[in-house]
Amino acid sequence: MRHVYLDFNASTPLAPEVVAAMEPFLGGFYGNPSSHHWAGIPAKEALEKARLQVAGLLGCEADEIVFTSGGTESNNHAIKGVFLARREHGGHVITTQVEHPSVLQPCRFLEAMGATVTYLPVDHTGMVTPQDVRKAITPKTILVSIMHANNEVGTIQPLAEVSRITRDHGILFHTDAAQSVGKIPTRIADLGVDLLSVAGHKVYAPKGVGALYIRRGVRLEPLHHGAGHESGRRAGTENVLLNTGLGTACELAEKWVGMPEVCKLRDYFWKRLCEIFADAVVLNGHPTQRLPNTLNVSFQGRIGTEILSALDGVAASTGSACHAGTTEISPVLRAMGINTDIAIGAIRFSLGRSTTQDEIDYVLEKLSLLR
Ligand SMILES: Cc1ncc(COP(=O)(O)O)c(C=O)c1O
Repeated sequence: MRHVYLDFNASTPLAPEVVAAMEPFLGGFYGNPSSHHWAGIPAKEALEKARLQVAGLLGCEADEIVFTSGGTESNNHAIKGVFLARREHGGHVITTQVEHPSVLQPCRFLEAMGATVTYLPVDHTGMVTPQDVRKAITPKTILVSIMHANNEVGTIQPLAEVSRITRDHGILFHTDAAQSVGKIPTRIADLGVDLLSVAGHKVYAPKGVGALYIRRGVRLEPLHHGAGHESGRRAGTENVLLNTGLGTACELAEKWVGMPEVCKLRDYFWKRLCEIFADAVVLNGHPTQRLPNTLNVSFQGRIGTEILSALDGVAASTGSACHAGTTEISPVLRAMGINTDIAIGAIRFSLGRSTTQDEIDYVLEKLSLLR
């Protein structure tokens, strides 16, 4: 059976350069980066190099980067950290209905702690309206958290416009950039955010590592209390191995941002699907303001999970889940107002650096047998 991987939004393989950079830290370099002797110094140097590399991709200062265990921790730290540090200023948070669970669940947790959370709707393409953000702001609003690009449909949110609104009101603005970092530009100065989450394994670094950009001067309550690591923002001896992997991956990503070749292949895939299936396929997500690698397509009158099992050997995902004989559709597609019978036939194909035309043609051939 031929294996084709079209699930790069779920996770990416390690870039060979990332593996090579991490290798010394599996062996000879074992010192604690907080130790001031011959064993600690190279570990500290590697850690600070990695911090500079992450900051380089985001266009921020190295001391604005805190290493974390991944996108989930970064999102938790941003959302709970702001609430705990600022709740005396008010307990209102604004987010959207299409966020990843690692944003939605911390918001639910805050609600249980007395916060109020507004979950903004999106339009049919998955896009938030900046005017809706403005209208939702109250004197108690302390944080707006809106993802940069959606993991299921790839829609890119108008962060720069939203940041002008949050700045006018003196409210902190966080974005979950787990899916956008390395795929599209994510320079802090262009996005205007105060907090930004990075997930290593979406950008050819290992799983279990990430970063949180915290604008200078913004104070968050840490999630991990202990010694003064990461300038007191995250206690625990730093994971030099994984952080080195993330730093190298971020430096490498600079030359991939925009992904024009991947985008061309993705558009070819969609064009051929339209030729083969005509009106029986529907594109989910924004037609242009979308990640260059993401193609979420509904096969009308079909069930996504059944198509995926017929595509034996092709790794892709569907937002729907089967529980006890019924199929639940993705909350993201539901929030976009996609009809259940269309949403049920949705499959997310997400392409990566290594995807070839031959692989896409092979998948098209398998799909055409299902016509
Ligand atoms: C948009 C988004 N945010 C956050 C995460 C969580 O990242 P991690 O798996 O590193 O915890 C993911 C991963 O699927 C994601 O797609």
